[in-house]
Amino acid sequence: MTMQARQIKPGIYWVGAIDWDRRLFDELIPLPDGTSYNSYLIQGSQKTALVDTSDPRTESIFLERLDSLNIKNIDYIVTNHAEQDHSGALPAAVTKYPQAKVLCTAKCKPMLMDMLRIPEDRITAVADRETVSLGDKTLEFLHAAWVHWPETMLTYLKEDRILFPCDFFGSHLAASSLYVTDEGRVYESAKRYYAEIMMPFRTNIERHLEMLKVYAIDMIAPSHGPIHQKPQFIMDAYRDWAVAPPKNVVVLPYISMHGSTRLMVNYLVESLAQKGVTVEQFDLSDADIGKLAMALVDAATLVVGTPTALVGPHPKVAYAAFLANALRPKLRFATVIGSYGWGGRAVEDIAKMIPNLKVELLPTVMIKGLPRPEDFQALETLAATIAEKHKGLA
Ligand code: FEO
Repeated sequence: MTMQARQIKPGIYWVGAIDWDRRLFDELIPLPDGTSYNSYLIQGSQKTALVDTSDPRTESIFLERLDSLNIKNIDYIVTNHAEQDHSGALPAAVTKYPQAKVLCTAKCKPMLMDMLRIPEDRITAVADRETVSLGDKTLEFLHAAWVHWPETMLTYLKEDRILFPCDFFGSHLAASSLYVTDEGRVYESAKRYYAEIMMPFRTNIERHLEMLKVYAIDMIAPSHGPIHQKPQFIMDAYRDWAVAPPKNVVVLPYISMHGSTRLMVNYLVESLAQKGVTVEQFDLSDADIGKLAMALVDAATLVVGTPTALVGPHPKVAYAAFLANALRPKLRFATVIGSYGWGGRAVEDIAKMIPNLKVELLPTVMIKGLPRPEDFQALETLAATIAEKHKGLA
C-alpha cells in the first residue's frame, strides 16, 4: 500500500505523516499520544505551493504522499517555522523540486541556511502581510514571532479562508482522521503542547490572537494534530489559556523520601479541598511533566513540597522548580512546604530558582522530622491564606 495525499478541499491536499510511536520530543517532552507532521500542497490555477515539510524521521512518507499527486513542479515551499520537525525534509524537497523558491521570514532565512544548509539563493524572505498569487488562490503571510521561536509566521489562504499556522493551534496527537472528531481529546493534547512550548510566550500568543480577529477563518490546518473545522473551539481555548486570569487551582509538585513531606502534602490537599480550592498534586518520583505543565496553565498558586536532600531541595523538586520558572505560567502565589532531619537550605535554594515567576511568596512551612500538631496547624493556616487569596482572583 503506497501513501496517498488526501484532499481537504479542491486543490488542497494533506501530504503529512503520522508518527504514532513517538514518545518524546526534544528528548524532554512526553508524547503519550504520538504526533503528526502535517504539510499541505496547494494547487492554484497557475502555481503550486507546499506549506511546511516533515520531520526527518518521516521524510520518506511525506515524499511518497507528494509523489502520489504526480506534481511536476512546485513553485513555492512555504516554511512557516525553521524547527526541524517541519523543515527537516526541506533539503529533500528543494532537491526534488529545483525550481521551487523557499518562502519564509527574514529571521527564518539564516536559520534554514545554518540548520539545514539550504543554499541562500533558494530562499526568499517575505514581508509581514505580503501576498503571493497562485492564480485563483492567494497566500498571505502573517509574521507571528515567538509562537515559540523568533522566526515564525502563519500562512492564510484567502479564497478558501484556511489558516496554516504550523505549531500554533496544533496538538501532539496521532490520529487516522484528518479532522477533529473528539474535541475533548484534542483539547488535552493541544493544551499539553501549548503548556510545554508556548506558555512562556503567552503575551505574544495574545497578540497573535488579536491579529487574527480580522481574518475570516473557516478552517485551521496546523502542522501537528487534527485539522480544526470549528476554529472557534481552539481559538477560545487558547484565549482561556493565554489571556484569562488564573483559576482557583493549586499545583503541588512534591517528593517525599521518608514520609514526613507526604503527611504534610496529604494534610494540605485535604484542607484546601475542604475550603473549595482545587489541587493538582504530582509525586515527582514518577510524574508526567507534561501533565505538570498543563496544570500550571490554569493555576494561581504553586506549592512546592520537598524533603531536604544533600542539604538542599530534592533534585527532582529542583527540576520541577526549574521547569515552572522556564514555563512562566500565570501564577500569582507560591510557597514551599517540607521537612528536614537536621538542617539545610531547601527554601532558600528553591526561592532562587524561580526568579521568572512574578509571584507573592506566601509563608513557608518547613518542619523538623515528623509533623507535630503545631505543624499541621501551620498548614491549616497556609490553606486558609491560599483560599482567601484565591477569592480575589477574578
Ligand atoms: Fe513543531 Fe516548533 O516545531
